[in-house]
Amino acid sequence: MLNIAVLVSGGGTNLQALIDAQKAGKIPGGRITLVISSREDAYALTRAEQAGIRTEVLRRRSFSEQGDYDTELIGLLERERVGLIVLAGFMTIISPRVIERYRNRMINIHPSLIPAFCGEGCYGLRVHQAALEKGVRVTGATVHFVNEVCDGGPIILQKAVEVLPGDTPETLQRRVMEQAEWKLLPKAVALFCAGFLEVENGVVKIKGDLPCSE
Ligand code: GRF
Repeated sequence: MLNIAVLVSGGGTNLQALIDAQKAGKIPGGRITLVISSREDAYALTRAEQAGIRTEVLRRRSFSEQGDYDTELIGLLERERVGLIVLAGFMTIISPRVIERYRNRMINIHPSLIPAFCGEGCYGLRVHQAALEKGVRVTGATVHFVNEVCDGGPIILQKAVEVLPGDTPETLQRRVMEQAEWKLLPKAVALFCAGFLEVENGVVKIKGDLPCSE
């Protein structure tokens, strides 16, 4: 059993999707043992507590030095023997030291088809606003490993979602969550926990399939 830590900052709907998938037996190789929030008022914390998962609040601004924050974060993860970190709407920048320590063991979900509409400053509703301004007919979501490039790590899974006439950033965000994010993230986590993901030359190879993937 792999211990999973989910890092959050907001509503936690992706965390909820993971909790639900775990309860439904869809992540047989892992269990969420820790939720770390960058904000003490994140609703994601309530979701974790309701599911009986240990929670911690870790605010970057409580530390004057990046190194001290990193040491605290790594300490929390190591004490819990975390084998997979999931960034699910986590708004604090992860430093190169933490990325290096958890290389190919840390994944992120982004609400577009990377490499479109991603990178520094492109998060939340801004992603969907940019997609609408460009007039794309299709957008989606991407789960990827985290590396030193913002939204630039090896891609694990992607799913396309239609853009519809009259969409606003809010309606598009909701459709991308419902049709893509909440399905992709549990599937990527299950694949990782099953040992089916390998990174070769910066590209993810999926070495097996799951009996109940959605
Ligand atoms: C999601 O859109 C995710 O793709 C992005 O941040 C948002 C988090 O939403 N990285 P939630 O907190 O999981 O509801």
